[in-house]
Amino acid sequence: MVSMRPLRSVAALALCALLGASGGPAGNTRPAARLVELTLTAAPARLSLVAGGTTDVLAFNGQVPGPTLEFREGDHVVIHFRNQLPEPTTIHWHGLHIPSTSDGSPLYPVEPGATYDYVFDILPGAAGTYWYHPHPDHRSGYQIAKGLYGAIIIRAADDPLAGIPEKVLVLSDNRFTPGGEVDLPSPESPQGEIDEENGREGDVFFVNGKIMPTISIRSGEVQRWRIVNASAARVYRLALAGHEFVQVGTDGGLFEHPVPLHELVLANGERAELLVRATGAPGSRAVLQTLPYDRYAPQTRPADWNVPRDLLTLQYTDEAPVAPVTVPARLRAVHALDTTKVTARRFIVFSQGLINGRMMDMHRVDERARLGATEIWQIENVVGMDHPFHLHGFQFQVLDRNGVPEPFPAWKDMVNVRKHETVRFIVRFDDYAGKWMYHCHILDHEDHGMMGILEVTSTRR
Ligand code: C2O
Ligand code: CU
Ligand code: CU
Repeated sequence: MVSMRPLRSVAALALCALLGASGGPAGNTRPAARLVELTLTAAPARLSLVAGGTTDVLAFNGQVPGPTLEFREGDHVVIHFRNQLPEPTTIHWHGLHIPSTSDGSPLYPVEPGATYDYVFDILPGAAGTYWYHPHPDHRSGYQIAKGLYGAIIIRAADDPLAGIPEKVLVLSDNRFTPGGEVDLPSPESPQGEIDEENGREGDVFFVNGKIMPTISIRSGEVQRWRIVNASAARVYRLALAGHEFVQVGTDGGLFEHPVPLHELVLANGERAELLVRATGAPGSRAVLQTLPYDRYAPQTRPADWNVPRDLLTLQYTDEAPVAPVTVPARLRAVHALDTTKVTARRFIVFSQGLINGRMMDMHRVDERARLGATEIWQIENVVGMDHPFHLHGFQFQVLDRNGVPEPFPAWKDMVNVRKHETVRFIVRFDDYAGKWMYHCHILDHEDHGMMGILEVTSTRR
């Protein structure tokens, strides 16, 4: 387990104040921030991932996935990171609105043997499901494939779904050599070239690092599933035979209203919160599957792309059904950002491997924005495969896809831009000047330069 020590002592609060985390202007009666301090170490390990042997992995605190980190809105977080890998790395806190120096972007590599303190506040309204993973220059795909990823849960004091039992489901897929090692072919090999084009996929499916685990449920019960797609490239289309889902949240937390659905499409990097109602009989079972989803260009579409895959078993207990809880019809307020305040529009074109015709350059700033600005970004995908877009540091609201308005505002940090699709979103750079990455979240594409840098500055240049 992670050493996570909520420190409540006077000394801890003093440290907290020293770090400027007590929050709010003088006279604010908000309680002092809770200091959450923990240590994460990235190091090589050998773990049993697939039956019949062990595998060379890279692990946070010796486990794959890394420990699930839980914070509360208002927390002041200090993470002492130790890099015991033989190569540079970082930890990126995917989706969190935090200072750029703590974002773990490739601009802040942590050298082998070095340490880095990630320091940030969890702001009000941040409650949701996030994740963390390395983000070093060119090596994110490799390090995540080897096991470096984990979930983050942020809780609100006034969670409307408090009391509903929860599960965290970190989805990933991987491919192994006959000897049981993570299969990472050389980029020049035929499979290496396909991986680079499609993004690397595997035929072994993991939920929280386990193959086909079992979740038990009592008939009538409602469970809240926080789902993270930690795969390098795979888009899941989740379905649970005989069951309907109720989606209650996405990347940046809860929706305003619950949305019933039969299937959930979740692109790599995205998260969703679902309510699962146990409408089956005591003793029955159901399998959570991912159904075929065609994100591929025809030339490199895998032959078995249209095969449904089993992810986990939902096993009903023999107990008599319980009366289902009522889910509130309104979860929280999600106010639409004001389009009349927009001061800039940006146009991002995704072609195969490139953004606006260019490859990532760490020494170039691609977009400059002013702190406080509200902007509309248009992401156009001009090629015949999906590219999921991700912006660091700021949650945005999708406005429309191919001109079709989104049904309601929701906070996102990822949006899958489908083949030949154009997506527009609105974003407000309310805080945290600095340099922020935006990129395709297919890790092979990101590593090969499908990334740009946004600089948010407090003065106009
Ligand atoms: Cu999930 Cu730039 O990352
Ligand atoms: Cu990110
Ligand atoms: Cu891409």
